[in-house]
Amino acid sequence: MSKKTKSNAGNGMYYPEESVVKRAHIKDYDSLYKESITNREEFWAKEAEKLFWYKKWDKVMDDSKRPFFKWFTGGKTNVIANAIDRHLESETKNKLAIIWEGEPGDKRTFSYFALNREVSKFANVLKAMGANKGDIITIYMPQIPEILIAMLACAKIGAAHSVVYGGFSVEALAERIADAHSRFLITADGGFRRGKPTNLKKIADEAMRRSPTIDICITVKRTGEECYMENDRDFWWHDLMGMPIASPVCPTEKTDAEDPLFILYTSGTTGKPKGLVHTHGGYSVYTATTFKYVFDIKPADRWWCAADPGWITGHSYIVYAPLINGATIMLYEGAPNHPYPNRWWQIIEKYGINIFYTSPTAIRGLMRYGASWADKHDLSSLRLMGSVGEPINPEAWKWYYEVIGKNRCPIMDTWWQTETGGFMITPLPVTPLKPGSATKPFFGNEVAVVDDSGKEVPAGTEGNLVIKNIWPGMARTILGDPDRYVEKYWKRYEEQCYYLTGDSAKMDEDGYVWIIGRNDDVMKVSGYRLGSAEIESALVSHPAVTEAAAIGLPDSLKGNIIHATVILKDGFSASDELTNELKKHVDNEIGPIARPAFIVYTDSLPKTRSGKIMRRVLKARALGQDEGDLSTLDE
Ligand code: WTA
Repeated sequence: MSKKTKSNAGNGMYYPEESVVKRAHIKDYDSLYKESITNREEFWAKEAEKLFWYKKWDKVMDDSKRPFFKWFTGGKTNVIANAIDRHLESETKNKLAIIWEGEPGDKRTFSYFALNREVSKFANVLKAMGANKGDIITIYMPQIPEILIAMLACAKIGAAHSVVYGGFSVEALAERIADAHSRFLITADGGFRRGKPTNLKKIADEAMRRSPTIDICITVKRTGEECYMENDRDFWWHDLMGMPIASPVCPTEKTDAEDPLFILYTSGTTGKPKGLVHTHGGYSVYTATTFKYVFDIKPADRWWCAADPGWITGHSYIVYAPLINGATIMLYEGAPNHPYPNRWWQIIEKYGINIFYTSPTAIRGLMRYGASWADKHDLSSLRLMGSVGEPINPEAWKWYYEVIGKNRCPIMDTWWQTETGGFMITPLPVTPLKPGSATKPFFGNEVAVVDDSGKEVPAGTEGNLVIKNIWPGMARTILGDPDRYVEKYWKRYEEQCYYLTGDSAKMDEDGYVWIIGRNDDVMKVSGYRLGSAEIESALVSHPAVTEAAAIGLPDSLKGNIIHATVILKDGFSASDELTNELKKHVDNEIGPIARPAFIVYTDSLPKTRSGKIMRRVLKARALGQDEGDLSTLDE
């Protein structure tokens, strides 16, 4: 391993090399930042003008119906007009849009020209099958190029997509289909994960039985495993794409700036996931701008965001922002350590990746195998790196910086959420870095750490992280539940009109933000966002369980692990067998990402007098800590 890195200034700060600063889009953060918050509308209008609009907006920002904010009202665009159509008129047309590698080592590439052809064909298929503007189309797929083609085809015809992460299982998929009233499901027979085919279509079949809104299911053949195909409901992707309905010419729907582009479900404090709504106009502007300035994208770059397209990170920074910027995207289907822990480093070398973006959990996972796996590869193409999803501990940060980035690639630790659409607190390539801090707000944003009354707390004190302004990429509402949107994000600091993030954080004397973690009943496990209530309702759906409480406990690899306490029904008793069965049950209902690491059995749970489980007390008990204020405990 390389010698221990000391910060290059010796004061804990890491400064970028001159070459990084020289080529950066933004060389002076402070002055543009000041400008962007003083003239917020002008700042965003200027960025929006760089995109293509069928019709220019009348108003940049509309706050007449707080907190239901709108952006670029009266404007007409479509994310596809910027992500694909515009590039066909320039040299970007023949540039690679997607480089894809399957886990078994198969490979496919698409130029922007080819991507347009495939997207247009599939858009025509969707239309011929009866999909319209206004539909919400559910997509449940592995990491294959067709997931991107399906998403882009939905956008092209003005239908919203609702992508459900391919690692989710039956109940998670079924409730998302039901909530969105989807008539269309696009899936695959499976994908490859650690050398084995997954069985997505089987899970989809069971989900369609539970949620009967689906009329048409289109399945990509990826693994060749046998599938059940129901007459008049199930169609193969390749059959439809081979028919005359799949014409390669399809006009892009001229959507309103505020028309929904997608719904993405995320975990909240109740069992029911929230379908956050993002729009064509503001989302395009926000993701394109953040991507360009933070990852300093240039035409010759090859960009790799090693997330799954099924999460917001994938939506914004695998699919939309890179395509709007005309970048080349790397997409890899499988596990980072298959067949060996050098798979990612091999991909970086093989394809000459310049900018690489992943999660702290992945870094910690690969760090365990030691530096020798990375040292086997020439990683000199890398220029910038990124981190997202959870706080990155300084140890993992330094390993990433030294071993992967060879002490020359600044790490963009980007803090944001499904709700925010894009980066909110993040360095730029020119920002002096402190390992473990997401640094400072992106242009146009003002953030604060406040107490329960909304007063800013002194530097170094923990408090609630809020955003004091609005921004174009913000989610507009929760599908079908606007009251919950108000309640969850805007009610707490109604007077000040602050957006409540749900995170606790500290700000230091230099104005750098240090994220501590969620302070609601949401946890981040390996960077995946899960609600206590979702895990609890999965457990309670098992015949042996009458009540359950799930909490996150700190873990050095995964950030958090799930600890569940359950009360059994009469006639059932605790055993290792039952524990395993309950874990499997959670796998089958939500997915393996939600599997509890521990299950303990009890006769009673600590509750408030109004009957709310006091998860805080359970957590303190599990960690052997002081249980704190128990005055509301009903025992
Ligand atoms: C956490 C993921 C620390 C945070 C894009 C947030 C982070 C939640 C970071 C949103 C970061 C995300 N440092 N924590 N750089 N990025 N988080 O919706 O707790 O899956 O509230 O969006 O992830 O998770 P979500």
